[in-house]
Amino acid sequence: MNVRDFRQPEHLVSEPFLQRWSPRALTGEPITEDELNGLFEAAKWAPSAFNNQPWRFLYARKGSPEWEVFFDLLVEGNKAWAKNAGALILLVSKRTLDHNGQPSRTHSFDTGAAWMSFALEASLRGLVAHAMAGFNANKAQQVLGVPEDFAIEVMIAVGRQGAPDTLPPDLRERERPNTRKSVSEIAREGVWKDWR
Ligand SMILES: Cc1cc2nc3c(=O)[nH]c(=O)nc-3n(C[C@H](O)[C@H](O)[C@H](O)COP(=O)(O)O)c2cc1C
Repeated sequence: MNVRDFRQPEHLVSEPFLQRWSPRALTGEPITEDELNGLFEAAKWAPSAFNNQPWRFLYARKGSPEWEVFFDLLVEGNKAWAKNAGALILLVSKRTLDHNGQPSRTHSFDTGAAWMSFALEASLRGLVAHAMAGFNANKAQQVLGVPEDFAIEVMIAVGRQGAPDTLPPDLRERERPNTRKSVSEIAREGVWKDWR
């Protein structure tokens, strides 16, 4: 599949931003600790307020004792395809600042930046990183022992891209890069006008 058949930018942009997308068809092959560490390395260089680095990645690789615990957190719609991931990750963020213990206003924002670095690095390496909000966040906090000072953000399926015909029919039809709002819909000079 050529991503550029589906994604044409309006303005000049670097190719990796167009090439990253979120496939669901995965091969079921393992992901090594080394591969994951490369993605965490990319995430770790993300910027954050006060350089607080609030992101924490908990993970389980396919076949490990923890895999079932992570997998069981997903909603059925995500289980249908994420069963073929090589690793499942729970991304959480620290709500308070290390240097003074005060609440951080930007812990989720900062952690979103780390996710994007992670995802872009995965894409540049030919791996899939697919974020998921469809999981039981309260259960994740409990069963994985995440302290209350850490907010549950997303789960991420990491794997190798597989053939669309391995997916259930409804997902197979949607297995292509999607598009975006236009720049004029997301960026305007001056005061707020009539956005929704
Ligand atoms: C925070 C977040 C939550 C998401 N949750 C899910 C999910 O539960 N299941 C799923 O299949 N995709 C999920 N996605 C993938 C989005 O649908 C996808 O990123 C979006 O449609 C843009 O497409 P692209 O990533 O292919 O560019 C999620 C993405 C993000 C960033």
